[in-house]
Amino acid sequence: MSDAYILGIESSCDETAAAVVRSGAHVVSNVVASQIATHQPYGGVVPELASREHLRAIVPVVRAALAEAGQTYSSVDAIAVTQGPGLAGALLVGITYAKALAFALDKPLIAVNHLEGHIHAVLLEEREKGNHDVQFPVLALVVSGGHTHLYLAQLRDDSWTYENIGHTRDDAAGEAFDKVAKLLGLGYPGGPIIDNLAPYGDPKAVKFPSAQIKHLDRRGIQNRDIQSKNSDPAPSVPRFDFSYSGIKTAVLRHVEANGMRAAIEARRKALTLIPKPKLEDYLAHCDQHTLHLIASFQRAIVLDLVSRTLAAAHAHEIATLFVTGGVAANRELRKTFEQQAAKEGLPVFFPSRPLSTDNAAMIAAAAYPKFLSKNYAPLDFSAEAGLVLR
Ligand code: KG4
Ligand code: ZN
Repeated sequence: MSDAYILGIESSCDETAAAVVRSGAHVVSNVVASQIATHQPYGGVVPELASREHLRAIVPVVRAALAEAGQTYSSVDAIAVTQGPGLAGALLVGITYAKALAFALDKPLIAVNHLEGHIHAVLLEEREKGNHDVQFPVLALVVSGGHTHLYLAQLRDDSWTYENIGHTRDDAAGEAFDKVAKLLGLGYPGGPIIDNLAPYGDPKAVKFPSAQIKHLDRRGIQNRDIQSKNSDPAPSVPRFDFSYSGIKTAVLRHVEANGMRAAIEARRKALTLIPKPKLEDYLAHCDQHTLHLIASFQRAIVLDLVSRTLAAAHAHEIATLFVTGGVAANRELRKTFEQQAAKEGLPVFFPSRPLSTDNAAMIAAAAYPKFLSKNYAPLDFSAEAGLVLR
C-alpha cells in the first residue's frame, strides 16, 4: 500500500495541536500552540478560556502543520481528531473544525481517544527508530494531568484493544504535581517546575506515607471475557489502582506544621512579577527546606508509580512496558523506570519528551490502524468528555 498522510488535530485540554504523520510511522510536521500563559495566572486550566484560545489558534495551527509538511488541505488522505476524554468545549473546537474539513474536502474522518493517542506516541517513535517488533502483552501506564491509567494492550488483526487494570481513585499524578506546585507558590504547570527543582533538594528529607490503596480489589475483573466464557472461579488478579490526593494533603500539613505560609506567599508574588521565570529565578526564591520538600514529594510519587506499575507487570506477565503522558516527561520517573525495569529484564519505552505531553502527532499515529481498516467516524459524532478506552 502507498504511503498515507494523516492530518491529526488535538484540542482536548490546553494545547491546540496539529500534525501530519506518514503511515503511522513518521512525523512529517508537529505544531503545538500552548496556552500556558493564558492559564498561568489562575494556577490551572480555565475551561472557558481554553475553548476561546482553541478557537483563536485552530486555523493557523492546522495551516502551519500542513505547510511544514509540504502538504495541502486536499493532499492529505484523512483527518483525525481527538474525540475525548477532555474538556467538552475544548474538544468541540477541534471536532467541529475537523468535521468541516472532512465534509468540504470529502476526506475520511477518524475519531481518536486521547489516551490511545498517548500510547501510540510510543509506537510511532519506536517505528521511526526502526523497531517494528513490539512483544506482547504490552502494559501501558498513561500518566498525565487528567489520568493515571494502566492498560493491557493487545493487537488483533491490525486493530488495538485495551483493558484497564488500574486507575487513580482520586487525583491524577500530574494533577498532584500541579496542585503541590501551586500550594508552594511555584506557578503552573507544576510538573516541569518540580522536575527541574527536585535535583537541588534531598529526596529523603521529608517522609511521606505511601498511598493506602487496597490492592486486592476484584471489581476490575468482574466483566472479563475469561469469566463469561468458562465457569472457572474469578482469577485472583488484583487491580492496580493509584491515589495521590493523600500526598497533596501531607504536603499541605507539612507547610502548616513548619510555618512556611509567609515565605510561600512572598515567592508567589515575586514569581508573578517575572514574565517567564527561569530555573535561576525559581532557585533564588526557594529556601533549602522547600527544595527538600519538592525533592521528597517527587521521589514519593515516582516510587509509587514505578512500584505499582511493576507489580501489575508481574501479575500479568507482560513482555513490554510503555510509559506515556505528560508526567512521562519527568526525568526522575524515566530514570527510575529504566533502572527498575532493567533489573527485571523488562523492556520499557517512553515517547521523546516533546511527544510525552499533548500533541497531534500521536492522534494521527493512533488513527492509522483505523484508516487501514476504514474505521471512519460518522459526521454526527460528538465530543465525549469521559470517553473510555477499550
Ligand atoms: O499529557 P498532558 O500534556 O495533558 C493531559 O492529558 O493531562 O499532561 C500534562 C500534565 C500536567 O499535569 C503537567 O504538570 C505534567 O503533565 N507534566 C510533568 C512534566 N511535564 C509535564 N509532570 C512531571 N514532570 C514533568 N517534566
Ligand atoms: Zn494528554
